[in-house]
Amino acid sequence: MSTPKRYTITAALPYTNGPVHIGHLAGVYVPADIYARYQRLKGNDVAYICGSDEHGVPITLKAKKEGITPQQVVDKYHGIIKKAFEDFEISFDNYSRTSAKIHHETASDVFKKLYDEGKFIEETNQQLYDEKANQFLADRFVVGTCPKCGFEESYGDQCENCGTSHNATDLINPKSAITGNTPSLKETKHWFLPLDQYQDWLKEWIVEGHAKDWKPNVLGQVKSWIDDGLRPRAVTRDLDWGIPVPVKGAEGKVLYVWFDAPIGYISSTKEWAAREGKDWEPYWKDKDTKLVHFIGKDNIVFHCIIFPVMLKAEGSYILPENVPANEFLNLENNKISTSKNWAVWLHEYLEDFPDKQDVLRYALTANAPENKDNNFTWKDFQARNNNELVAIFGNFINRVLVLTHKYYDGIVPQAGKLSDVDEDTLMMLKKYPQIISKSIERYRFREALMELMNLARLGNKYLADEEPWKQIKENPERVKTIMFVALQIATGLSILSEPFLPFTSNKLKSILRLNEPAYRRGRERGTNDVVTSSDNEIATNSTSSRNDIVIPTERGTSDEESLWNKISLAKTLLPSGHQIGKVELLFAKIEDAEVQKQLDKLEATKQANKTEASGVEPQKGVIEFDDFTKLDIRVGTILEAVKVPKTKKLLQLKVDVGIDIRTIVSGIAESFSVEEIIGQKVTVLCNLAPRTLRGVESEGMILMADTPDGKLAFIEPENSEIKNGEQIS
Ligand code: MF3
Ligand code: ZN
Repeated sequence: MSTPKRYTITAALPYTNGPVHIGHLAGVYVPADIYARYQRLKGNDVAYICGSDEHGVPITLKAKKEGITPQQVVDKYHGIIKKAFEDFEISFDNYSRTSAKIHHETASDVFKKLYDEGKFIEETNQQLYDEKANQFLADRFVVGTCPKCGFEESYGDQCENCGTSHNATDLINPKSAITGNTPSLKETKHWFLPLDQYQDWLKEWIVEGHAKDWKPNVLGQVKSWIDDGLRPRAVTRDLDWGIPVPVKGAEGKVLYVWFDAPIGYISSTKEWAAREGKDWEPYWKDKDTKLVHFIGKDNIVFHCIIFPVMLKAEGSYILPENVPANEFLNLENNKISTSKNWAVWLHEYLEDFPDKQDVLRYALTANAPENKDNNFTWKDFQARNNNELVAIFGNFINRVLVLTHKYYDGIVPQAGKLSDVDEDTLMMLKKYPQIISKSIERYRFREALMELMNLARLGNKYLADEEPWKQIKENPERVKTIMFVALQIATGLSILSEPFLPFTSNKLKSILRLNEPAYRRGRERGTNDVVTSSDNEIATNSTSSRNDIVIPTERGTSDEESLWNKISLAKTLLPSGHQIGKVELLFAKIEDAEVQKQLDKLEATKQANKTEASGVEPQKGVIEFDDFTKLDIRVGTILEAVKVPKTKKLLQLKVDVGIDIRTIVSGIAESFSVEEIIGQKVTVLCNLAPRTLRGVESEGMILMADTPDGKLAFIEPENSEIKNGEQIS
């Protein structure tokens, strides 16, 4: 076996200013998870690292909006995000957070070291300042026109339209995101990372060194920044939320969030290593370690330019081997947007599809925005499930399981002489680990998943061609061989599907009763491991040989071949005589109604956004007809009116409602004078329980409409013949 390699795999730390959605999953966490699981299956030593990004302006803005503290914001969303990742079995070795003590220390130390070694430029200059909010504006606190592409809603640090990163003072026509004011300029001192000094080095390292192995979309962006010329970048901010700048004369300043957040990968690794009794340093300092950053395209500049320059300036760290950034995923042809609620939130998805994590993982991988922006539609989701998972993968497995039980009571039969087709089929099976590996190692996860499905297709074709159900009468010996071969494919699928469809893989392994030790991550989450109790027969006993798939390898420490490679090497994956478990379905059809429900939900969001934009209040919750018939609404006439003393709004009215003449207190004094409403026809809710307002008992309510200028208007019958007491229904 080849010696295990060490992999430090990072997934972008999500901002804790909202929950995570399918765009996050498709762009970062699923591909990174496939990669991490795959490397573990190959027997490599993996640290798959993530955590919450809890500093920065988006969080302080969210806190302002919700009227709570930034700490309350991050606590809330850290919990929601962490749980969503766990529910989807994203197999992080550690999920930390940047508010953790170890992170504050680690980030401070890096800053101090760079500071002490004179790697920063210290400069006092003019920064944007919001006089009304009493604070400096940078990053997302400012919106203005992008100097590069002219997009009018660029943020202070980055333009979402063209991806350019800039300084807030570069914006044309800047406006404060807090007050909407035009900011003034005010002097302040900051520390800058002189990116320009690293320009030549960056060019050599990336543009020349990685021209072949980095994705074209990543190289393209990096090249254009370098060609534009890099400039010093401030790594401190005047803010009260973040990690205090650990030097004298920097009181009231914090580290720029994009300085501290990527260091979060390192602190999260430290936290993990301490818990596992490992040494963290090789994962970040050994030049044989492969460091891979999984990110979305808006993070490219930070991971390919700024963070590498920080690491290079620090001097003791390795640099990323690759940064396989994805493009964006749209939802039903519109940009996913947290503020517009245009998203499929993971926690909501699970409410509607509680056991369908793999279906979403599958649909998102099959349709991943690897090279260009892509579109998620619920119809495609349904089709992927029904036409691929159910009809191909599920169908093959189901036929194998059902027939094995029907013909042999669930015991793997003894193969007879193999025909050419059998030999070829088994030979193809042995090639699949290689085929899939090749795609994964080039970060082509869609292609890799397609190959996995091709193995299931191979199984289906084999059964369809060999027709065991037709041969069972005349040729039972031949059927034994066919079923033996089919069971080998099923076993191969159970192992090779693990990176993509971990739930399915586990279920299938447990149906096949493959005895698999906890070779995976996180011993603390042992519940995910395949059952190893005594009622679960080991896949190999009397008939097994050393080349059967016995799987007791402790991760990276055994002389055994890795599970992945074993498929190519083992003589038999599932030996004759082995008892498999009972038949269970791996996938279920998704009905039109389930998809329609999701589409309706999105339509409601669209409507809500529209009404919000037009200033009309959204519709209240639906009521039943019976609720409506309880209301007694009648036409009436105002007979008398006096102001309720010491109030601005209230008038005390005498109203003839046909039934009687009653007193009603109404908050209309700011819209009408006492004189002008005598004789006014009105609409009255008569059977509202009486209420005492300022000492006067009110026996009903006058219905009013809000007008656009903020005044009230009466609702009166068009036909003046209508008498008091007429019911409105
Ligand atoms: N929070 C950032 C985002 O959601 C990503 C941070 S990645 C890290 O875009 F490198 F800074 F950690
Ligand atoms: Zn732009």
